[in-house]
Amino acid sequence: MIVKRIKLIKRKLGIVCREVLFSIKFDLSFVRTRAWLWIFNSIPDFYCLRVVTTGFLRLAGCKVPILGCYVRRPFYLDRAQNLVIGKGTFINRGLTVDGIGKVTIGAKCKIGPFCVIATTNHEGDDLHDAVASVRIGDRVWIGARAIILPGVTIGDGMIIGAGSVVTKDLLTGKVWVGTPARCLR
Ligand SMILES: CC(C)(COP(=O)(O)OP(=O)(O)OC[C@H]1O[C@@H](n2cnc3c(N)ncnc32)[C@H](O)[C@@H]1OP(=O)(O)O)[C@@H](O)C(=O)NCCC(=O)NCCS
Repeated sequence: MIVKRIKLIKRKLGIVCREVLFSIKFDLSFVRTRAWLWIFNSIPDFYCLRVVTTGFLRLAGCKVPILGCYVRRPFYLDRAQNLVIGKGTFINRGLTVDGIGKVTIGAKCKIGPFCVIATTNHEGDDLHDAVASVRIGDRVWIGARAIILPGVTIGDGMIIGAGSVVTKDLLTGKVWVGTPARCLR
């Protein structure tokens, strides 16, 4: 009876230890981005502070030019080192980038409020099991609440309508709208 109990306690302790170790390892993989983003998101959202705030994005690991970019708060990002933002790009409030895969946003883009850029699909038990990079060209305008799915490439100068879901590469045409995004012209 006692031996059985000891075995049960040992097993439960093992599970708790594994869970604690996994949590620490998991949090450590995001700690740099989350710590700096926490500061970034606490700074008042004024245009004149953009040099300071892009500085915090760089400290988080993001490749973003200090001058000429304006990223509004709040901004949600998991791995800043996987994010590249080009010169002259404006990112409106509420952008969510999971950033597990690489995300490249070109120069002079305009990203509308509350868009989502995803790089992960969950096809198995692992949290980040199917990762694919997203590439957004130069001078792309993405309307409010659009969603860009993993693995997508958007060519230079494209316009994505508000609320659209981009499921495949957009390399021809100019204006794409709807779910899934279809070419308007
Ligand atoms: C994509 C967009 C630029 C197209 O504008 P437009 O060329 O004037 O298009 P129209 O209004 O003439 O619409 C043409 C057709 O596309 C459809 N359409 C336009 N925008 C759409 C959208 N976001 N999603 C789905 N369908 C859309 C219209 O219903 C219309 O369909 P119909 O021909 O069957 O009636 C504009 O609709 C848009 O989504 N702008 C984004 C605005 C925004 O998010 N601003 C935030 C600040 S960055």
